[in-house]
Amino acid sequence: MKAVAVFPGSREIKVIEQEDPRISQPDEVMLQTLDVGICGTDKEICTFEYGTPPPGDDYLVIGHESLAEVVAAGSAVERLQPGDLVVPSVRRPCFHSGCLACRSGHQDYCYTGDFRERGIKEAHGYLAEYVVDNERHMNLVPPDLREIAVLTEPLTIAEKALGQISWMMRHRPPWLDPQTPGEDRGRGLSALVLGVGPVGLLGAMAMVSAGFSTYVYSREVPPNPRIDLVAAIGATYVSTQAATFADLAERAGNIDLVYEAVGHSHFALEALRVLGTNGIFVLTGVPGLQAFIEADPARLMRDMVLKNQVLLGTVNAGPDDFASALRNLDLFRRRWPEAVQTLIAGRYPPERATELILGRPAGIKTVIAFDFRSGQQEAVT
Ligand code: BGC
Repeated sequence: MKAVAVFPGSREIKVIEQEDPRISQPDEVMLQTLDVGICGTDKEICTFEYGTPPPGDDYLVIGHESLAEVVAAGSAVERLQPGDLVVPSVRRPCFHSGCLACRSGHQDYCYTGDFRERGIKEAHGYLAEYVVDNERHMNLVPPDLREIAVLTEPLTIAEKALGQISWMMRHRPPWLDPQTPGEDRGRGLSALVLGVGPVGLLGAMAMVSAGFSTYVYSREVPPNPRIDLVAAIGATYVSTQAATFADLAERAGNIDLVYEAVGHSHFALEALRVLGTNGIFVLTGVPGLQAFIEADPARLMRDMVLKNQVLLGTVNAGPDDFASALRNLDLFRRRWPEAVQTLIAGRYPPERATELILGRPAGIKTVIAFDFRSGQQEAVT
């Protein structure tokens, strides 16, 4: 079977031929890959800044944003059967008996750092025609979401963030109604999303759906389909070319939530300065090597303490976040059918993966498709 792999030693990325994997444990399923989204992490892996092959291998099969179809199931598999669609989670637990996070199925909070991540760290990924995995790490996808479920994994980032902050939003400040239902937890509050990549745009959809009055701030200027998408979902786009952070703060009023999805340290620090009183700042971007910047930690500390602010970093996601991402995707597609369609730039065959990962993105989310039966691998540009 075909797979796309990076070889850090020889600094190569190529389509390789591999033996088809086999089910070797009763609780495993065999998956046929349908769609794999590519993202900034794949680019970092393909420029050899990030990513580690499994021990003993000189290559890593990449791809972690996957949608697949179950084609065979081991004898102990209970929840899944052939024909089911699944989105696998990315992270696998470490083996330390004392890691309470991994031992309780919350490897996205792993204490030791010895977790593995499929397609990223010490475990092969999903850019392969077939994959074998444990049933436990599969998230069942309703058939109606076939066309867009590849967006589930990037949406889990926002779901995990919202999941973590929702209790803080409901219980502090105390005058907010603690009974506010989950889907309305942003009512009366304003959110600022930084960046218009897939994580930012999906995050903006999640914020609007949660009832936040949502602003999206990025460097793009109109005309731009990403800006159109922001407008289509009822958020307000502001370009860095047209307004400073101070202008933005004046316009938005108290900024209750900042959702950072850029991974740029200077931009994030600037944004931290406009975080409102009792505000929560969520960092999701992982900066690569960047120029050293001067900061004023005393001023930051002062602001954070005197304004009851929270700074939260968040990575990866757990089963509840996958479940709420799937629920939200269904909601998004009903509410904004065209906007959701435009998120997926096109589907391309695996042979084009390298060029697409390393080149300029053709659209918002680029997808590699293995599903030759439906003919969807034809590029749409
Ligand atoms: C993935 C996460 C992963 C993180 C760090 C992101 O691109 O979506 O699942 O935990 O990279 O490796």
